[in-house]
Amino acid sequence: MSDIDKLWLHQHLPGIQASQQADDLASYGSDWSRLREPAPAAVLFPQHQEQVAQIIDCANREGLALVPSGGRTGLSGGAIAADGELVLSLERMRQLDPVNHADASVRVEAGVVTASIQQQAERAGLFYGVDFAAAGSSQIGGNIATNAGGIRVLRYGLTRDQVLGLEAVSGKGELLQLNHGLIKNATGYDLRHLLIGSEGTLAVITAATLKLWPDPGERQVLLLAVDGHQALLPLFMAARQALRLSAFEFFTHDCVRHVCAHAGLPPPLEQAAGMYVLLECDAVSDEQVAALFEQLVEQQLVSDGVISQSRQHAQQLWQYRERISESIAAQRPYKNDIAVRIAAVPELLQQLDELIQRHYPAFEVLWYGHIGDGNIHMNVLKPDDLSPAAFKQQCELVNEQVFDCIQRLAGSISAEHGVGLLKQPWLQYSRTPVEIDIMRRIKSVLDPGGILNPGKLL
Ligand code: MLT
Ligand code: ZN
Repeated sequence: MSDIDKLWLHQHLPGIQASQQADDLASYGSDWSRLREPAPAAVLFPQHQEQVAQIIDCANREGLALVPSGGRTGLSGGAIAADGELVLSLERMRQLDPVNHADASVRVEAGVVTASIQQQAERAGLFYGVDFAAAGSSQIGGNIATNAGGIRVLRYGLTRDQVLGLEAVSGKGELLQLNHGLIKNATGYDLRHLLIGSEGTLAVITAATLKLWPDPGERQVLLLAVDGHQALLPLFMAARQALRLSAFEFFTHDCVRHVCAHAGLPPPLEQAAGMYVLLECDAVSDEQVAALFEQLVEQQLVSDGVISQSRQHAQQLWQYRERISESIAAQRPYKNDIAVRIAAVPELLQQLDELIQRHYPAFEVLWYGHIGDGNIHMNVLKPDDLSPAAFKQQCELVNEQVFDCIQRLAGSISAEHGVGLLKQPWLQYSRTPVEIDIMRRIKSVLDPGGILNPGKLL
């Protein structure tokens, strides 16, 4: 692959924009996980689906590896190109069609940034259901390839649930137009869902038709102080009963400390609590909120709280949750993104707590996540005196125990960040040997040359 130079690109991929500049290779060969040093041979920028097919045909002919690439905000190394691969960036395919009002949908090319879709929907008086902290730079192709989740899954579902139609090129070079924006289509295997979450290992997603929702209107945010994790499930059940929830998040006081230091924010409540719950719901009257709050205090589930008084205030409260990830990024945390059924959350938290006390006594461990979906982010911060390699090794040893516990509870080792390179060695804790074998066989049908994102996921 070292033979790939300007002349090679010109001869083998005529008409395709490409870069081999050092800064482009470094930035397009990496993602937010920074798991490995980027070292791609070149970055390619196709402008339409036929050019994607042209690149795939060339890669099959020449036996080259391709790494499909979006906004590179992934946290599991799914977009890393560290072995002389060609990066196939979709960022110049960013056509955003007008909203289709009759279908309540919008067709977007893979390189469109998630926040642009949210804004396009809003301008049309509608709503795009997926949101997360990286919405300002992540691209929809990557969201679909990893089946991104985020903060409103409990009301609107995952990215999977928004995709009404999908356009892609398989690893064999076949152009695919899947489901055509239909709501109902009972005509056999839904190949669309095979590609969603396949992390660029089966096909390159080039465009999608996305479902839009009615404008939710005004919403309220409650930030509640909670003593310990035992209160989380009963609190969630009480809130779900009383309110129409769109988010139910939790985080510990250590997370708040990091956010306040990083973002220069005041503490959210006068008195620090062990844990906080941030919930978002459709607007309700002050009386209804007061009644619920009283009930939660009486049941000793909540000790204090604040309710948003305006849209701006709600956004301020969200910052305590949304900015956790960026506030610890410089410390290169070891990330776990795990999930169990809601009913198993208390048992998971109990078992993880014990594991952490036993194995991580000297490490700072931060807990936060989308607890209303059963999804917990457990971030371990590297102590200053430990080398990155020794730190990673220690964390991976503990992984075995964490994932044993996940397996016993029939949970997932990656709820929403994907498998990529980071979780690939542990896939068998969430998927059986039979499932993994079927996944490999599916890969050999759609990508027989094994050119798409080799080494990731499987
Ligand atoms: C979040 O929920 O904040 C994101 O998944 C990012 C992260 O886990 O760091
Ligand atoms: Zn998350």
